Amino acid sequence: MKLRGTMRVNSRGHLEIGGIEAADLAGRFGTPLYVLDEELFRQNCRDYHRAFVEKYGAEVIYAGKTLITLAVCRLVEEEGLGLDVVSGGEIYTALKARFPMHRVYFHGNNKSPEEIKMALEAGVGRFMADNLQEIEILNRLAGDMKVRASVTIRLTPGIEAHTHEYVKTGQIDSKFGLAIQTGQAEEGIRLALRLENISLRGLHCHIGSQIFDLDSYAHAVDAMMDFAGRMKRKTGWQPEEINLGGGLGIYYAKGDSPPPVDRYAEVVMSRLKAKSAEHGMTIPRLMVEPGRSISGPAGSTIYTVGTVKEIPGVRKYVAVDGGMSDNPRHALYQARYEAMLANKASLPPGEIVSVAGKCCESGDMLIRDIALPPVEPGDLLVVSCTGAYNYTMSMNYNRLPRPAMVLVRDGQADLILKRENYEDLIRNDTIPDRLKKSKVVSIASPSKTGLSHSVSCLLYS
Ligand code: LLP
Repeated sequence: MKLRGTMRVNSRGHLEIGGIEAADLAGRFGTPLYVLDEELFRQNCRDYHRAFVEKYGAEVIYAGKTLITLAVCRLVEEEGLGLDVVSGGEIYTALKARFPMHRVYFHGNNKSPEEIKMALEAGVGRFMADNLQEIEILNRLAGDMKVRASVTIRLTPGIEAHTHEYVKTGQIDSKFGLAIQTGQAEEGIRLALRLENISLRGLHCHIGSQIFDLDSYAHAVDAMMDFAGRMKRKTGWQPEEINLGGGLGIYYAKGDSPPPVDRYAEVVMSRLKAKSAEHGMTIPRLMVEPGRSISGPAGSTIYTVGTVKEIPGVRKYVAVDGGMSDNPRHALYQARYEAMLANKASLPPGEIVSVAGKCCESGDMLIRDIALPPVEPGDLLVVSCTGAYNYTMSMNYNRLPRPAMVLVRDGQADLILKRENYEDLIRNDTIPDRLKKSKVVSIASPSKTGLSHSVSCLLYS
């Protein structure tokens, strides 16, 4: 496993993150445990800040869908980035974290009127309008509140991003955005310009995620700016800002070779300048919305190995105490990950195993075919690069409580997300009167380590 950020193997042959042994973290907080390396998260924010904000006066907007908690919002604000949100829940999180709302960008292909009102009241900086209907609803609701909504229109530029089918978004046949080729993008611009409670600020596109090929971004800029040039000639309006979305890929496993962030900035900025000159436009302000490339490498997950099963001549399954419930990405996208045994970090790999989760689903795998030192029950397996789209896509399948998350830095570990317990799992369950009965039952409650110990408890209905 490639070591990231503050990860290191200490003289005892144990893996440390943020100056703390993974075994210590597991002992204190239990497993599965999400670990966020504060220094690396901040470093990734700073790389973007330097490459885009300091060099080109661009705006960097962190995509909260990859990883959002109150503490994460605080880090993002301290590092001077904006925040991309996609739901009332994410807006609520930003509000509770007291994130400056004028730096919040509200996305979504089906924003409800309640969410739109909430966003207007909160004073979000931009509505990233996805379709014609949304522009009209927004105009009406803004009018009711006697405010003007700042809007950027999301376009589908028809760009081929070389990435997984499920995370491609720039093509015409997409649920997101208004397609340039069909004329709907132009219709959106004309509509927004006509409506009195809408202030049209710019154009947006997001061509996909886990992208390594910077040419895809260059083509996206070309398509956006050629469209902007046509709009200028036809309507006189020109965008103040061009938002290119997120998508920069990261290293998960061998074969992944992400380009450096400053190169990404150079490529898109030089296209933006060239195209602005070609169309006789002032250079619009560049905006990007990175998510994975900031949070992804900064997160890792510690699991405890449970059962180890060898099917002779076929495969050795190592089962851990989490799985698709805390990281569904292999099940969904065949995503690849690297891992190591934190307590045997300096032992050479001795066998090829596959890491399975504990959910009742054959597809509940985390890693297929990985070389590890001899694995035994009780070992601590650390999967790297789980900072993005893990916690935010986690679930309670099989009523597994979701893991805790700790923020580590300089030998200090702070809990930023509590582990769910069994009580949390039934918190929203209700029993209709006709099904109620009075009885005494015994339930089990999860211990800190994730292993269960049984406690007797009286439940009266
Ligand atoms: N901006 C917009 C409008 C987006 O839709 C996305 C991601 C981003 C920014 C951030 O993209 P990033 O820099 O993180 O690639 N769940 C999938 C990825 C879905 C991407 C959704 N949109 C996965 O786990 O790979």
